Amino acid sequence: MAPARTGALSRKIPNNAERDACGILDSMNTPMIPSAHSTHSSFHDSGSPATPPFENPVPVVELERVLKIYGEGETQVTALDSVSTSFTQGAFTAIMGPSGSGKSTMLHVLAGLDTPSSGEVFIEGQPITGLKDDQLTRLRRDRIGFVFQSFNLIPTLNARANIELPLKLAGRKADQYWLSHIVDILGLGARLHHLPSQLSGGQRQRVAIARALASKPAVIVADEPTGNLDSQSGNEVLSLLRNAVDHLGQSVIMVTHDQSAALKADRVLVMRDGQIRADLLAPTAAELTEAAR
Ligand SMILES: Nc1ncnc2c1ncn2[C@@H]1O[C@H](COP(=O)(O)OP(=O)(O)O)[C@@H](O)[C@H]1O
Ligand SMILES: [Mg+2]
Repeated sequence: MAPARTGALSRKIPNNAERDACGILDSMNTPMIPSAHSTHSSFHDSGSPATPPFENPVPVVELERVLKIYGEGETQVTALDSVSTSFTQGAFTAIMGPSGSGKSTMLHVLAGLDTPSSGEVFIEGQPITGLKDDQLTRLRRDRIGFVFQSFNLIPTLNARANIELPLKLAGRKADQYWLSHIVDILGLGARLHHLPSQLSGGQRQRVAIARALASKPAVIVADEPTGNLDSQSGNEVLSLLRNAVDHLGQSVIMVTHDQSAALKADRVLVMRDGQIRADLLAPTAAELTEAAR
């Protein structure tokens, strides 16, 4: 890998539209929420996998009887129908289910992008429904990494500046050791000075994953991260998410409609009509097919 070069940080303070575009509705200079992961030894230990997540499970995100209703009267839709579950730290969880079953709603609600109609969501033990907008914004920015189907990179910033943007907006100093470790694992060393338009779809998604990892979030949420990629690039992206869990101790929650993608996860939730219909640990393809029937 080429050594990470310094001095290539964004030379441009992004405007509000740009902040919004990467899901980081700002507030600069706000104090940083201490990271529960900052002393996690596996972050600085590239070789050894993290402790298997289900041996001594620590919940990173919990949902308690979460109801989400859209609309009113005849057009009312129950997108989440009293869902309770918890997501383990250091695990890779996939959420599957037919279109309209509530997958994206669940991801948005558990990541604080949308509020439930009733019920409670906890992130690292903290209830989030009572938080004020600016507290929620800060929590999202500091503790959650987002990976979207459409990458959501800032076109005028090079890869490196995109990766460091959330830290910059938070007024935090980048941990250069950590960043070069991420860049190394994601194979982005030679691409750091390229603009998104000079990168392939797979490379853009790798930059988005690096951006999500940069702040050492409590959890990475990914909604159909391979949806816009050819199958080879899609497989690479899945391997990288797998690597982030196995070698960086990350927690990943990924929505996908692709069974082969879900099979890369440690656990698969199958949703239907706003409810979790199956909750499977390391299912086989046959078990998953059966559960999705
Ligand atoms: N903003 C919204 N306004 C109204 N209905 C919505 C909204 N978002 C989602 N829905 C409805 O909620 C249900 C679940 O949607 P969604 O979570 O997007 O499903 P999935 O991601 O599994 O395809 C669907 O019936 C959808 O039409
Ligand atoms: Mg969806």
